[in-house]
Amino acid sequence: MCAERSNEESHRNPDNGIDPMSHVPVMADEVLEFLSHGHNEGLLVDGTAGAGGHLGLLSGALPGMTFLAVDRDPAAVEILISRFRDNPDVIVRQGSYTDIPEIISELGLQNASAALFDLGLSSIQLDDPQRGFSYRFEGPLDMRFDDSTGKTAAELLNKMTEKEIADIIYNYGEEGRSRKIAKAIAGNRPVRTTLQLAQIVNASVRRGSNKILSRVFQALRIAVNGELDQLEMLIDELDGWTEAGARIAFITFHSIEDRKIKLLFRDTPGYRQHSPRWLVPGEDEVRRNSRARSARLRMGIRV
Ligand SMILES: C[S@@+](CC[C@H](N)C(=O)[O-])C[C@H]1O[C@@H](n2cnc3c(N)ncnc32)[C@H](O)[C@@H]1O
Repeated sequence: MCAERSNEESHRNPDNGIDPMSHVPVMADEVLEFLSHGHNEGLLVDGTAGAGGHLGLLSGALPGMTFLAVDRDPAAVEILISRFRDNPDVIVRQGSYTDIPEIISELGLQNASAALFDLGLSSIQLDDPQRGFSYRFEGPLDMRFDDSTGKTAAELLNKMTEKEIADIIYNYGEEGRSRKIAKAIAGNRPVRTTLQLAQIVNASVRRGSNKILSRVFQALRIAVNGELDQLEMLIDELDGWTEAGARIAFITFHSIEDRKIKLLFRDTPGYRQHSPRWLVPGEDEVRRNSRARSARLRMGIRV
């Protein structure tokens, strides 16, 4: 999950709107160092390849490896295909990271010796008003990573009970004023656009702020995309497609996600924590890329 505030750093291409290179990969040096250790062949899976920021660095540093880039978002996949069209070592597939076992078997690939999951959303998604992820731009309240399937955020909000809305805001957004906010949403339906939702949320609390909006939008995004269920499924399947000794890195931006990964590497048979168990970005990186501010890199090894 990349925090909502990240679009303060939005880089726009005046010709066609969103610049595909505007997404700056988080903790890239640390990821590269951990995942490249001891590797000169085998399969590296980037399960949330996004704009290919991490993948570009990894594929440049590790000739001889095969790279499988997966993303749920068809628009991200288009960018990946175009970015890596001249690199025969990179295979791009649209799908969820929970589809990786089928993709690997379909392609006849060996199990992975390294894997990366950079959870959440990219700056490209956040900065596109039509995707509805940001409270800063007017747009349809959509928020689906894959807009060919599932219910939009507006559809969810207009159908859920007030209590269900409050629970989502409280559990996924860790926002204490969830009941007040849910009441206001329920009383102002139908909700259709990002700015309409932002206005309802701001009016429902004594002092509205971007922090509250970030939490509400984040919570909705997690619910719309079933992100925690997806992560659970990934964790359950991971040992089926990674080889012994595989290095596995997760970048998380949310405490619930981070806890799941901590438990995976610390308490699940078949894994061990790498040392250090986790890293956060340095001050310099946070200064350069505010989106990195709440990131945590967790590292583990299949045994
Ligand atoms: C933070 S971005 C990744 C950015 C990438 N590491 C880079 O450097 O360009 C997260 C990406 O994960 C994708 N994503 C979210 N949930 C997913 C899932 N269940 N399966 C595959 N991709 C997913 C999003 O569409 C988004 O493109």
